[in-house]
Amino acid sequence: MPHQPNPANVNSIKIVIVGAGSVGVTTAYALLLDGLAADLVLIDIDKNRAQGEVMDLSHAAHFAQARVRVGDYEDCANATAVVITAGVNQKPGQTRLDLVKTNYALFKDVVPRIAHHAPDTILVVATNPVDVLTHAAHHLSGFPLERVIGSGTAMDTTRFRHELGKHFGVNPRNVHAIIVGEHGDSQLPVWSLATISGMRLRDYCEAAPGVEYDESALDACARRTKEAAYEIIQRKGKTNYGVASVLVSILQPIVTNSDAIMTVSRVGTYGGVENVALSMPCKLNRHGAYQDVPLLLGQSEQEALRRSALSIKEVLTSLEG
Ligand code: 2OP
Repeated sequence: MPHQPNPANVNSIKIVIVGAGSVGVTTAYALLLDGLAADLVLIDIDKNRAQGEVMDLSHAAHFAQARVRVGDYEDCANATAVVITAGVNQKPGQTRLDLVKTNYALFKDVVPRIAHHAPDTILVVATNPVDVLTHAAHHLSGFPLERVIGSGTAMDTTRFRHELGKHFGVNPRNVHAIIVGEHGDSQLPVWSLATISGMRLRDYCEAAPGVEYDESALDACARRTKEAAYEIIQRKGKTNYGVASVLVSILQPIVTNSDAIMTVSRVGTYGGVENVALSMPCKLNRHGAYQDVPLLLGQSEQEALRRSALSIKEVLTSLEG
C-alpha cells in the first residue's frame, strides 16, 4: 500500500450522494467548498426537490468550480464514492435503532442498484442505525469489507474531542481520544488511551498547572457526547452540519489516498462477536477502510466493546428473522 499522500486529480473525481435531505445537501455543500470533487451528483426520489437543491448549490459551485447535478442510479458509474444519506430520521425521543425496519427496506432497494452501476465504488453509509445499515450494505452490495464504510463513531469521536477540548481548554485537534463501538447508546470512550500532548489524561493533569483530574467531569464529557444528537434533535429536529463535516473528512483520505486513521464502522469480528459492524480505528485511503489499527483496550473496555457488538448483533438477528 502506498504511504505517501497522492494528491488527487480532483478533475476525475465523481461523488454521488443518495438522499437530498438535509444531511445529503449539507454534505454536498461542504464537498463543494472543500473542492474535493469535480462532479457531484444528487439522487433523490423527489426529483423536483433535488433539482431545487441543485439549482441553489450550482450557485455555490460557481465559486468552487465544480459541477453539481441531479442524477439517477446509472450516474453512479465510475464514482469514486457513493454516500448514502437517504432514509427516515430520528424524531425527538426515538433512538437510532428505532429507524431500522424502514431504512433497511430502503437499503434493499437502493444498494443493489448502486452496486450494479458502480461495482468498483466505495460506499459510505450515513443513514441510521448506521452500524446495522453498514452491515446490510456490505451484504446487499457483495462488496469487500473495505469498500463499505459507515460514518459510525467518527461523529462521536469528533464530539468527544470537542467536549474534552472545552474541558481542558485546549484545541480539540490536540486531544487524542476516541469513541468506539456502536454509533448509538452502547458506544464507549477509550479512556485508557486518551492523551493530550502525548500524555495520558491523569499525567497531563499532574503536569499542567491548575488542571485537576476530575473523573465526574470527564464522565459528563462522555455523557454529553453520547447524548448530543438527542439534544440537537430535541431543539432543531435533526443533525446535519456535524455529520456532513464528518462525511467530508471520511471522503478526504479516499480521494487523496492519504492513509488517515479514523473510527469508522466496518463489518468484522469485535469482542468475539462475528459478522457485525461497528467502529474501531481503521486506515483509510483510495482502497477504502483497508486496514484495522490495533487497539490495546483495558479489560473493562473490552467487555463494553463486546456488549456493544452484542446489542448490534441482536438487531441484525431480528432483521434476518
Ligand atoms: C448524529 O449523531 C443523528 O446520528 C446522527 O448526528
